[in-house]
Amino acid sequence: MASFLRTASRTLPATRRFSAQTPSIATIALQRRHASSAAANGSQPFFPDEPVEPIVKTQIPGPQSKAAIEKLEKVFDTRSLNMIADYGRSYGNYIADPDGNVLLDVYAQIASIPVGYNNPTLQLAATSPEMASAIINRPALGNFPQHDWADILETGILSVAPKGLDQVFTGQSGSDANELAYKAAFMWKRQQQRGGANVDFSDHEITSAMNNQSPGAPELSILSFKSAFHGRLFGSLSTTRSKPIHKLDIPAFDWPQAPFPALKYPLEDFAAENAAEEQRCLDETERLIKEWHAPPTAVVVEPIQSEGGDNHASASFFRGLRTLTKKHNILFIVDEVQTGVGATGQFWAHEHWNLESPPDMVTFSKKAQTAGYYYGNNDLRPNKPYRQFNTWMGDPARAILFRAIIQEIKRLDLVRHTAATGSYLYDGLARLAEKYPGEIMNLRGKGQGTFIAWDSGRRDEVLKKAKAVGVNIGGSGERAVRLRPMLVFQKHHADLLLERLERIFGS
Ligand SMILES: Cc1ncc(COP(=O)(O)O)c(C=O)c1O
Repeated sequence: MASFLRTASRTLPATRRFSAQTPSIATIALQRRHASSAAANGSQPFFPDEPVEPIVKTQIPGPQSKAAIEKLEKVFDTRSLNMIADYGRSYGNYIADPDGNVLLDVYAQIASIPVGYNNPTLQLAATSPEMASAIINRPALGNFPQHDWADILETGILSVAPKGLDQVFTGQSGSDANELAYKAAFMWKRQQQRGGANVDFSDHEITSAMNNQSPGAPELSILSFKSAFHGRLFGSLSTTRSKPIHKLDIPAFDWPQAPFPALKYPLEDFAAENAAEEQRCLDETERLIKEWHAPPTAVVVEPIQSEGGDNHASASFFRGLRTLTKKHNILFIVDEVQTGVGATGQFWAHEHWNLESPPDMVTFSKKAQTAGYYYGNNDLRPNKPYRQFNTWMGDPARAILFRAIIQEIKRLDLVRHTAATGSYLYDGLARLAEKYPGEIMNLRGKGQGTFIAWDSGRRDEVLKKAKAVGVNIGGSGERAVRLRPMLVFQKHHADLLLERLERIFGS
């Protein structure tokens, strides 16, 4: 490892050229001391040269940001813009803007930065000859995979495959991953109904498929849950039920939605009621599986409904779903696009459930920086080539990056670390909730690493005020404040966050 780290200096010229023009925190990222694995066990920082606390110099957006927004607005829709960032100056857990503000980032690109901005280990991977080749010689993977694609998969994506799933279909985004998984599910079901992989399509199937009619385009569905979010492409959007604004004006499949448990907090005070609520949801799920006019081929569920408001359910609820899917010979797809890659204190959130048999497919993206679905059953490979196919079918550059992320996670023991930091943060928030019960309601995420959220009666105001005190926080659903720090978030960051939240609550 030491010699690996020493090679960091080889990448310096490129970043120095950049620094000559733009004074930048990141320019010296590679000269900085590397995150030490000792930090995972104690109070040493992973990023020894991170700012000691947020720096707030101007209102946000400040004058430079306003100028950049004005320029951007002419060519790009800026109405969803949260803040203008300067990624060259961002470092570790801190995101910088062009006005010199440097915020502690517990939103992390919508839960998608795993190991810190300008992480030196990732900079090494990003500047390697292997990466350069992957970027400029991007293969159409289904047709022309590179000679070492199996090695890249085995030492990267597949090295963290959920237990029982040893194959992967790679894709571009979370929505893409889900849609690919849905398609695999439909082809699996029709193959079963047809009598196996060797039974050919009928003429009727072939002609009706071209007319978007059954049986070639069969009346089958994917069951999802109320307030679920599975993406915004056409198929995935039909399973998304978080907000109407995502769905309005878009034609959708008539697919079923089951209720997702609405748990009451604190959980220990409502154990019986919550168990009854989960049973109600399981019963309704089973009814829909049996009665929906287009029979569900799969159930897709998030381990924690994220965009839809950070809604949790117990491990027993998810075990119940697995039992139902087995009972009715349909597939269980777990959407780990947001929960995956360590943030819940397990590499995959569904590891918290102790399932007797693994999910049929697990989809991933975000912190993985690549995307796709894991599976184990060979029958989930369609019976003919080109049925599950597209030009890129993933991206070796992104797969190489995920491999470096995995190495960094392992080197710094970041999953275990996140479980510990999460408990520390949760306890601090529980203390704040006692002191400010009107500010922190329905605190959730205990034992789920840093995947923590609560409801707030003035959520948007809290998020806005957070920027003014140097913290970038996101929301989810209508009123949840959601924390999605990186895996390199540490206790001293948690202390800073708690102290800033208290300032907001006191204001
Ligand atoms: C659980 C879940 N699934 C799917 C998606 C869609 O991913 P993408 O935006 O990469 O298409 C998201 C995005 O937030 C998500 O949280």
